[in-house]
Amino acid sequence: MSTRVSPLDVIDWAAVKPFWIEAFGAGDDESPPGPGRHVWRVDSGDEVVALGVDREFETWLGDRRVPTAGIAGITVPAEHRGGGYLRPLFETLLGAARERGALLSGLYPTSSGIYRSLGYAPVANLDDIAVPTHLLGARGDAAPVRRAGAGDLPAIAAAYTAWAQQHRGPLTRDGISFPDPAKAYTDGLTGVTLAESSPGQVTGYAAWDRGKGYGDGAVLTVRELVALDRPSLVGLLRTLGSFASVTPTTVIRTSTADEWTGLLRSDDSRVQSRSTYMVKVLDVVALQALAPTTAITAELPFTWQGTAYVASVADGRVDVAETTSATASRELDDTAIVQTLFGAADSRTLRRLGHLTGDDTDDAIWDALTAGPRPAIANYY
Ligand SMILES: CC(C)(COP(=O)(O)OP(=O)(O)OC[C@H]1O[C@@H](n2cnc3c(N)ncnc32)[C@H](O)[C@@H]1OP(=O)(O)O)[C@@H](O)C(=O)NCCC(=O)NCCS
Repeated sequence: MSTRVSPLDVIDWAAVKPFWIEAFGAGDDESPPGPGRHVWRVDSGDEVVALGVDREFETWLGDRRVPTAGIAGITVPAEHRGGGYLRPLFETLLGAARERGALLSGLYPTSSGIYRSLGYAPVANLDDIAVPTHLLGARGDAAPVRRAGAGDLPAIAAAYTAWAQQHRGPLTRDGISFPDPAKAYTDGLTGVTLAESSPGQVTGYAAWDRGKGYGDGAVLTVRELVALDRPSLVGLLRTLGSFASVTPTTVIRTSTADEWTGLLRSDDSRVQSRSTYMVKVLDVVALQALAPTTAITAELPFTWQGTAYVASVADGRVDVAETTSATASRELDDTAIVQTLFGAADSRTLRRLGHLTGDDTDDAIWDALTAGPRPAIANYY
């Protein structure tokens, strides 16, 4: 039977919505197609056999923005699973994303095995970390804190962006998929606490939801914790710690837990749930987002997906071009190219796991090239 992949019309959205509810449970927010949100359908005969959503995002790789296809809502109705419909869905969906300029694609898998053979590789985790609230009373100098008001949104957004640009992976929170900045920071929360290391300068924030009740079982949920310096982190943790008598547990969503768990009174936190963030490189020019130090000048031949390239590194820039005169056979698979770009694994690790093969002459230069901001993610989608 022939398989067709096509964009889903808004008028057909209500008819297929039950497939998402079946897959992800009732109450999940599956919005119809709209600006920055492309919904794709796969039909076989007269049946819908797969659905997927491509969202127009941008990823911060340090201070460089890289257009990204954010994949969500992948589902195959139960009776059609195992039919191999994901591959044609992804080929068409990602082809369209590539045409609009996306160089990367990201997603949170329900099972990583589904997407590995499609070229996605893990780069970061978004964890919910449960901490006994009384441990949050970190010692040391603390920045002053205050409750955010409506007028603080631009400063909160600026603090997020400053944090995001110190990492590889966080989404930019502007553009077509973020029409309402308030939604990104304050929606559904009890409050946002700001830290100000110097007067009038927002240098961190904790966005938190107080939850219900008090005493045993009550939980304070922190949807986002961003601190640009240590006093801000200490000030925010201490403020959260002040809830110890009413919410014995605090759950903090974070991609960089090691930065703040080291400040706690004792190391008694645990990962309550983990979402792995996976990324796929859609075009080799994504490597041009690497920002090496000006100390590195090199010509680095490599192959990826059967094509030979050379990365020319000079003056803090990387230019990637196809080559017919490659002298080395350093071969990256899909995992190697992603994890190199994100600094998520070094050459040794990639070789040990078979993602990187061939000539190792340039390994040390590649490792120096990809040193830089560590991988992290903040938005779940
Ligand atoms: C996940 C889901 C979309 C897979 O659909 P499917 O029809 O089984 O997928 P396909 O037959 O096209 O298989 C695609 C690949 O994924 C692998 N795969 C499928 N389900 C998997 C699972 N649960 N764990 C690991 N790998 C899995 C297949 O082995 C295949 O790999 P291969 O190409 O290396 O052989 C489907 O089971 C589903 O709708 N589940 C409920 C919703 C869900 O989890 N969606 C994913 C959201 S991120």
